[in-house]
Amino acid sequence: MTVIPFNAPEIAGAELEYVQRALASGHTSSGGPFSKQAGRMLAEATGAKEVLLTTSCTAALELSAMLLDLGPDDTVVVPSFTFTSSALAFARQGAKILFCDIEPETLGLDPSHLAELLDDSVRAVVLVHYAGIACDVDGVRRVLADRPDVVIVEDAAHGLYGAYHGEPLGGLGRYSSLSFHETKNFTCGEGGALLLHDDADVNRARVLYDKGTDRQAFFLGQVDKYSWRDTGSSFGISDLLAACLTAQLEQADSIQQRRRRVFTGYAEALADPAAELGVRLPVVPDACDPAWHLFYVLLPSAHQRPLVMKELQEQGIRTTFHYVPLHTSDGGRRFSARPTSCPVSSDISARLVRLPFYNTLTPEQVDRVATGLIDAVRSTS
Ligand SMILES: Cc1ncc(COP(=O)(O)O)c(C=O)c1O
Repeated sequence: MTVIPFNAPEIAGAELEYVQRALASGHTSSGGPFSKQAGRMLAEATGAKEVLLTTSCTAALELSAMLLDLGPDDTVVVPSFTFTSSALAFARQGAKILFCDIEPETLGLDPSHLAELLDDSVRAVVLVHYAGIACDVDGVRRVLADRPDVVIVEDAAHGLYGAYHGEPLGGLGRYSSLSFHETKNFTCGEGGALLLHDDADVNRARVLYDKGTDRQAFFLGQVDKYSWRDTGSSFGISDLLAACLTAQLEQADSIQQRRRRVFTGYAEALADPAAELGVRLPVVPDACDPAWHLFYVLLPSAHQRPLVMKELQEQGIRTTFHYVPLHTSDGGRRFSARPTSCPVSSDISARLVRLPFYNTLTPEQVDRVATGLIDAVRSTS
């Protein structure tokens, strides 16, 4: 029996050649030619005014949190159903978190719960586009219509090359962040990017990014020496990793097309049996062009999940789940401003199973997973 892994990163194009070129060039620290090239490609894809390649999406979110100058009386609204980093970055800068529930269609932030949570302490709202399908951004914008002081921070870790009403994901916040972790559509092992959409943020962000110094202004000839100016850290990635990322981004069309085929393959193979068995598949609202990041199913009941996953494991099919709701986690309780109720997050996170999803997954493997899943759901019902 051949095993179908959950994820299988691929060498998609010129990664090895570009890494060799970066090594030979001698410029292996951050800000080198490949960082600039990848930055240009990401700016083109998202409309960003400035792209700062970072060591991770977590680091990009931390940089956003620093830009917000948060204090202990400030709160940031974060969906409970997300990765820890979406909240951690703001807690680390001293803010308190208000966990918001998700709406069941896109599994993104629920605007009606946001409206209930919104008070004078709220400085920012974090949007996550789960699976690369945009959350209800219009709904959030309506709720925030008379709160221009509240900053939208977009955690677009899953979203690169997706769109919402034709607007690119990664282009919908004042600050947006991307991930190039091994599990993402485009990877350099570990990596990320902060995308800035407001010119007013660019100079300060460059300082925070570069150890609190105005070194980038110095390289641009804007100052005659550089020195310590502000808080910050060392956020940049090596040009070796940027070389790898550049090669991946060059293959964007091919990677996205192949991932789209995997997604639609699952959706087609599962549509009828899922309807019969009460299994819910991802919903793609008309406004959304997905980024084809992952495929999940929602089982009819939470108690079935370990049984279904075990049965698939025995068939050589590796699956996983997402996320332990943050409002129920130790860290979530410790860093939240007050307890909030997020029943949809709790329900969905207990029933969700992610299926194997990677660029080179073949149609035959997709069918094998789909058949295996349906057999497992039937036999555990
Ligand atoms: C929604 C979301 N945000 C942020 C991250 C963190 O990304 P990174 O590993 O690049 O820090 C993840 C990781 O999977 C994620 O799913």
